[in-house]
Amino acid sequence: PLTAKVNSRDCLEIGGCEISTLVQQYGSPLYILDEFTLRTACQQYREAFKKYYPGQSQVIYASKAWSCMAVCAIIASEGLGFDVVSGGELYTTLQTLEQMGLDQEIATKIYFHGNNKSKSELNFALDSGCTIIVDNWLELETLVKLGGNRSKSIRIMLRLTPGIECHTHEYIRTGHLDSKFGFDPHQLEAVLTYVSENPVFNCIGLHAHIGSQIFETQPHYDLAAVLVSCMKAALERGLPIEELNIGGGLGIRYTEKDDPPTIEAWVKNVATALSEACQAQQIPLPKLMAEPGRSLIGSACVTAYTVGSRKEIPDLRTYIAVDGGMSDNPRPITYQSLYRAIIANKMSSAATETVTIAGKHCESGDILIKEALLPKTEPGDILVVMGTGAYNYSMASNYNRLSRPAAVLVNEGEANLILQRETYEDVLRCDRLPEKLANFPN
Ligand code: LLP
Repeated sequence: PLTAKVNSRDCLEIGGCEISTLVQQYGSPLYILDEFTLRTACQQYREAFKKYYPGQSQVIYASKAWSCMAVCAIIASEGLGFDVVSGGELYTTLQTLEQMGLDQEIATKIYFHGNNKSKSELNFALDSGCTIIVDNWLELETLVKLGGNRSKSIRIMLRLTPGIECHTHEYIRTGHLDSKFGFDPHQLEAVLTYVSENPVFNCIGLHAHIGSQIFETQPHYDLAAVLVSCMKAALERGLPIEELNIGGGLGIRYTEKDDPPTIEAWVKNVATALSEACQAQQIPLPKLMAEPGRSLIGSACVTAYTVGSRKEIPDLRTYIAVDGGMSDNPRPITYQSLYRAIIANKMSSAATETVTIAGKHCESGDILIKEALLPKTEPGDILVVMGTGAYNYSMASNYNRLSRPAAVLVNEGEANLILQRETYEDVLRCDRLPEKLANFPN
């Protein structure tokens, strides 16, 4: 799906921009985001919902995958809404929409998630006019207190734990019963009663999310039926449920072995499941919402690194080191995630050696790819790791006091800086040296 091609200089181009030139201009490591690929994924979701779901639908972007102003702006311009999970993500989204002049119009398409929202986050969310996806009892009780002082009722959805298993890494599974998120099924009746009896709430929907990087379709099919039967129970209590949010979770292809369903197939599956379940339960079709993150932005970005040192251990392994690592992509060390890499300035060279791509952090686990088959590399070559759009920049850190990388948006031969590379001053921005320490030795 990337708009990638090899140019006459044997170099990889994305969005019409040569990667080696981008690195010369912006430095490395560098996140390179392909606007066309991101927009295409948005369109595929929108169009598939239109095609397969007879009722209304809305796709909202799980901005935890990558929240920054330029990404928010593209998402908003594609007509998608936003799932935000913190005051910071909400602020990023609102600031972007305000600059675009869309803040009034889109506030109703923002949904605020989280299993432990602070009071100040809840107040911020209420002020913004977004919908709050309530996770637990404490949050309901807090909202009753906060909402008592407000003139308008609070638009909420309820997050349920559906008790559905899926096969993905245990850290990114959320729908099984033993999950920290959402109301447990045995509490459903009590929650619905509490919400229906409290005029502070305008409960417009139900939500569930079962996990991430999922390739199977059955779990979401089953989830639709669970949500619809909960909706029936809620309608019977007089709650004005209009929306069901089926979460995100569609996986992407990181390596050749990965074979995820297409966006269209994923949407068809959930749309069919939901329509069938509504028919079976004889309830009207709700507005169907989905909140994908990874499958919207994951494949739209690559990370370019400069190759540096090399260590050959005879009969064992060859390491090549790049100028980033676990601070710009913590996924391999956190989830043992697999990635694919290429050498962007030697596109037609045959891959002749298997190497281990190491990061530059002082940590032996800082390995980006354990076994990569590459052409013979030299210091200064540009190594590109594919599929780094989701949960890379958003999970990046300053470990070892590295500066967070820059990001550029590329499209039709034009590159625009969207995230500036941090400087040493940025790294020190929050440091304070108490006077008594600065005055050493007095
Ligand atoms: N909705 C909710 C409530 C979520 O918790 C998530 C992801 C999504 C939607 C979006 O899921 P997606 O479509 O991206 O699979 N850091 C991990 C992934 C954590 C996912 C957290 N929740 C990783 O790098 O794999």
